[in-house]
Amino acid sequence: MDPAAPILILDSGVGGLTIFDAVRSALPDAPVIYAADFAGLPYGDKTEAEVAARVCGLLGRMAERWQPRLVCIACNTASTIALGMVRDVLEVPVVGTVPAIKPAAALTRSGVIGLLGTAATVRQPYVDRLEAEFANGKTLLRAAAPELVLAAEAKLRGEAVSPDVIAKAAARLRDQHGGGRMDTVVLACTHFPLLRGELAEAMGPDVLLVDGADGIARRIAGLLRGQPFTPAPLRFVATGAGDTLPRYTRALAQRGFSAADVF
Ligand code: DGL
Repeated sequence: MDPAAPILILDSGVGGLTIFDAVRSALPDAPVIYAADFAGLPYGDKTEAEVAARVCGLLGRMAERWQPRLVCIACNTASTIALGMVRDVLEVPVVGTVPAIKPAAALTRSGVIGLLGTAATVRQPYVDRLEAEFANGKTLLRAAAPELVLAAEAKLRGEAVSPDVIAKAAARLRDQHGGGRMDTVVLACTHFPLLRGELAEAMGPDVLLVDGADGIARRIAGLLRGQPFTPAPLRFVATGAGDTLPRYTRALAQRGFSAADVF
């Protein structure tokens, strides 16, 4: 294993930084390239075929260019649609991010779990399978909240987040039949933990917000156990959006990225 080989983390935007943060804590010396597919954002409004083609094509090109030791799809939408396809085409381990229904089912006391994701994620058969396997006998309420993706992006550019937008997303779960008993909500989009404080306030103190970032970081650390790392500057690359890239500089610098480049 080349000790300089990076971990490649891909999301449609900056949501995957919530996975990056956990990976960084688990493996502080690992070289990382974070790729934001701004030119394809949002994935959640696209068809399954569009997301699959985009993610397979991009990761194929990126893997060839950077020879990563492992690829992490830090996006629930892309993972629930294309994880299997990406694994078929890449020759390195591929770790996906799928809705944290299993831990949520273990934590709920009322038996009513909410799931907030993109429009594409909430309709995926992959989510049906997770529900059948881990939330059998419980109630899973699903709601799409695509506006939270844009709100999270805006927050990392230093822009204000409207409490009204957050409240409406929370109400979309709460107002469903059984929503009054919901005590656990799966943040099934990597952008949403960037709004954890705002969402916690809107959901109320009795609702637990669950995401899979720490579990994914543990999985990656397990797969890379024993491998040597040559520390290297953290790289952030983005497709398109060269003009808006400077607005993320502060959020990226806080996480240790020295520069942002266009892919
Ligand atoms: N962050 C992505 C996810 O986890 C999707 C955001 C988008 O719609 O592009 O689902």
